[in-house]
Formats: sequence, structure tokens, C-alpha cells
Amino acid sequence: MPALSVRDLDLKGRRVFLRVDFNVPLKDGVIEDDTRIRESLPTIQLALDRGATVIAASHLGRPKGTPNSAMSLKPVAERLAVLLKRQVTFAHDCIGDPVRQAIERAERDGNRFVLLENLRFHAEEETNDPEFAAGLAALADVFVNDAFGASHRAHASTEGITKYVKPSAAGLLMEKELKHLGDALTAPVRPFVAVLGGAKVSDKIEVIQNLLGRVDALLIGGAMAYTFFKSHGVPVGTSLVEDDKLDAARQIARQAASDGRRLELPIDHVVTTTIEAGAPHEVQKIGDPAIGDRKGVDIGPATVRGYVAVLAGARTVVWNGPMGVFEVPPFDEGTNAIARAVATVRGTTIIGGGDSIAAVTKAGVADRMSHISTGGGASLEFLAGRTLPGVAALSQ
Ligand code: 3PG
Repeated sequence: MPALSVRDLDLKGRRVFLRVDFNVPLKDGVIEDDTRIRESLPTIQLALDRGATVIAASHLGRPKGTPNSAMSLKPVAERLAVLLKRQVTFAHDCIGDPVRQAIERAERDGNRFVLLENLRFHAEEETNDPEFAAGLAALADVFVNDAFGASHRAHASTEGITKYVKPSAAGLLMEKELKHLGDALTAPVRPFVAVLGGAKVSDKIEVIQNLLGRVDALLIGGAMAYTFFKSHGVPVGTSLVEDDKLDAARQIARQAASDGRRLELPIDHVVTTTIEAGAPHEVQKIGDPAIGDRKGVDIGPATVRGYVAVLAGARTVVWNGPMGVFEVPPFDEGTNAIARAVATVRGTTIIGGGDSIAAVTKAGVADRMSHISTGGGASLEFLAGRTLPGVAALSQ
């Protein structure tokens, strides 16, 4: 059953505790990418337009329960003031009487937007401490969760709080994420093709298992392909391999074969000795013993052609993880080619996870995707078929 929506709530004169994921990349106090902030603006604006006081709360980084000025949300408050074109009250903590007083003061001044300080400055946030969750809940009349990116964490502000403030509704970004990812998994227009890359197969085992049963083709790239190759005795030189996952890789390949699923691995690759921009490299067929002590760093042109042909016929595509060391040219060519191919798909294209977002942005095709998820770990867990605790806790 779908979660209650923020659109269904009567918000006039009420205080909304709005959990957002403002975990943005910061360098020396400067926000390097404000996508996550901008993506939550529709929910903030809707609540303000309907007459609510918005008390926004987020984590930033992993401060491990201790205040740390390098992970303060103050720069986010400043950015919000610019984006919302209104005054933003920044509370220097996220719980307790001083925060309550700051909210009351803001309301008296006619300012209905307050951003709380980093929730993770308190260890109780991550331990999902009931008293802490109740203290957060006491700040507001209703709870809205727009933090899809943090909803795979059963923390006080994503899960615990829902026991103490009702109703608990999904924000507009949360709804958008659940709709795009959910539709792709449960009602995809076919052919449905998944592209999975990245360094580690261990991060993606459950995603592969869940997707294999749903897709028409699953295309594998990135270093994780080498764990599959080595598990079948194919020479991989010094390519990145997870030796403790060889059995898992073998099992996945066996399962795919016995279920008649299309699991595709690269047929050629780019090999080099050093991962440096412009380092000497050559294209080899997978399994060529001439790889010696070199490593594979990108899918090769024959693989690109094959994958592009599969993508050309797709009507739904989910992509997570780059095809090679895309940060270091020329080993970005495979990833760029796949990004361009996904961009031209006549259908729904969904990008999940940090590195894949960077890859489509770098390839200049981000605006041609149907949906770019703001969730890294959360989108992977969703694609693995797991229930996200922050979503499960919302009112139906
Ligand atoms: C993310 O960046 O994926 C989310 O904000 C969750 O952050 P976390 O992995 O530190 O919980």
C-alpha cells in the first residue's frame, strides 16, 4: 500500500518535522553539488504555501555522535535562503529547549522555516534511541520524510520518530523516487535492461540476484566483472578481484544459466599497467593470456558495440555503476559510450547511485535521463528488493 502523501495533509498552522537528505559534498565549507537541496524544494515550498512551519532536519557526513564544525549544516542554511528567497533560521542543535525556543522565536518573527543542526552530532540518532526520537517528535505536529537517500537507515529521525508523531507522510521527492524505482522493478515497459558496474561485486550481489529475475538483459561492466571471470578460471592479470566472492559469482552465473536469464559480461577490455591519465594501454579480448601482470580498466570497443545494441532496443533501463575507471581518461570511454546510449533510449531511464550520477554528468547527458536518484545506498537496497525502514514506517 502506498505511503500517505504530504499532499494529503492539512498543514495550516502546524509544525512539520521534515526529514531531508542534505548530505551534500562540502569542501572547506563550500557546497560542491546542491542537487539534494534543490530536489527537496518542492516539498518545502508546498508545506510553506499551505501555511506550515517547516522544521527541516538532516545528517551530513559521519561525525560519529560528536559536534564537528566541518560537518555543520550552516552552509546549507545559507544556500537554502538563496534558493527559497526567504529568511532561514538556523538552530545550532537539533533537539531540546533551545531549539524549541528558536522555533518559537522564528514564528513570532513571521519566519516559518527552520533548519536544525546535523542530527548525527548526537550518537542517539544512529542508535535510534527512543528518547531521542521522542524529543525530535516533540518539536512538531506531523512528520514528513523526504529523505529517500537516508531511508535505508533505521535511525531516530527516519524510523524511530514515526512512533511519537503522527501522521508520518512521504514528501514529494520521496514519492518521486519510490514511483520511478518501484515502477521499474514491478511494472517495467519491456525490454527491461539493467546495466551494473563499479568496483565491487560484493556491493551488488543482492541487486544482481533481484534484477536477474526481472530484467530481459543484465549487462555487467566495471571491475566487478573480473570476479566473475576469475571464478571461471579466465586469466585476469592484476585486475581487481574479490577473492572471497568467487563462489557468489559462480552461483549467480549458474543461477542465470539455469533460469535462462541473459547475464552479459564484457568480451574485450582495455588493459594497462598504471592507472594514470594517458598511460600506455591496449585493447585485448577477455581471456587473452597476454594480459600478463596488467589490469583491466575499461570495457573494450566490441563490448561497447554489443551493449549499445542491447540498449538501443530497451524501453526501460536502470544503470548503476561505471564501466571502468571513468575518473581517469582515456579509461572513461566505455562509461561515456554507455551514458550516451542510455541517453538515447526511447523509454524510461533511471540512474541510481553516486558514481553513475557523476558519470552521466561528466558525459553531459544528465538532463536526458528520466530519473536520477538522490539515493546511493538507498537506491541499491531498493533495487535489491529490500524494504527501506524509513519508508516502511510511514503511515499508509
Ligand atoms: C548517502 O549519501 O548515501 C546518504 O545520505 C546516507 O549516508 P550514510 O551512508 O552516511 O548513512
